[in-house]
Amino acid sequence: MDAIQAIMTRCSVREYSDRPISDEAVRTILEAGMSGPSCVNARDWSFIVIRNPETLAKMADANGRPAEPLRTAKLGILVCGDLERAFRHAPEYWVIDGAIAAQNMILCAHAMGIGSVWLGTWPQVSRVQAQSELFQLPETQVPHSIIAFGYPKEPVIRETLPFEASCVHEEKW
Ligand SMILES: Cc1cc2nc3c(=O)[nH]c(=O)nc-3n(C[C@H](O)[C@H](O)[C@H](O)COP(=O)(O)O)c2cc1C
Repeated sequence: MDAIQAIMTRCSVREYSDRPISDEAVRTILEAGMSGPSCVNARDWSFIVIRNPETLAKMADANGRPAEPLRTAKLGILVCGDLERAFRHAPEYWVIDGAIAAQNMILCAHAMGIGSVWLGTWPQVSRVQAQSELFQLPETQVPHSIIAFGYPKEPVIRETLPFEASCVHEEKW
């Protein structure tokens, strides 16, 4: 699958089969996450890789109903912003850098036939606190998002292309 095809055909997958995800695939997904741009090349993220179903269920409990996909996921990755590495003059860029890493991992997984869904965490304070407590994170690590991964239970096909002409402005607003 080429990059354009991966971008155009990706869609969220929320139910997964029992097929495990290999260590090699996890490594490739993480490498994709670390391959995106980051402000001043700060690479101000960290990743917690979770395969233990009990921990995945605790993460689902912590984020509430929208995080139900974690209950059948074979892998969860908690993307955190690493405030120690963030750009000193504008540390808030960590949020953008984390989002880029998350999307890169999603697209990489999709290209390998692995489904995923982004589970929003930051800036919802209760979720950030709950994940921080669950993983006993130091204050420098801020939970940004959770990505649930697994081979799709059913084939998932994105049926429509999302081009919206009303969002596009030529030369001026
Ligand atoms: C920041 C962000 C937070 C999201 N949070 C959740 C979530 O908590 N639970 C969920 O099932 N999907 C979540 N999603 C997935 C969106 O619902 C999904 O991307 C959107 O409906 C478009 O569908 P698609 O991904 O299939 O194109 C989130 C996506 C983003 C970008």
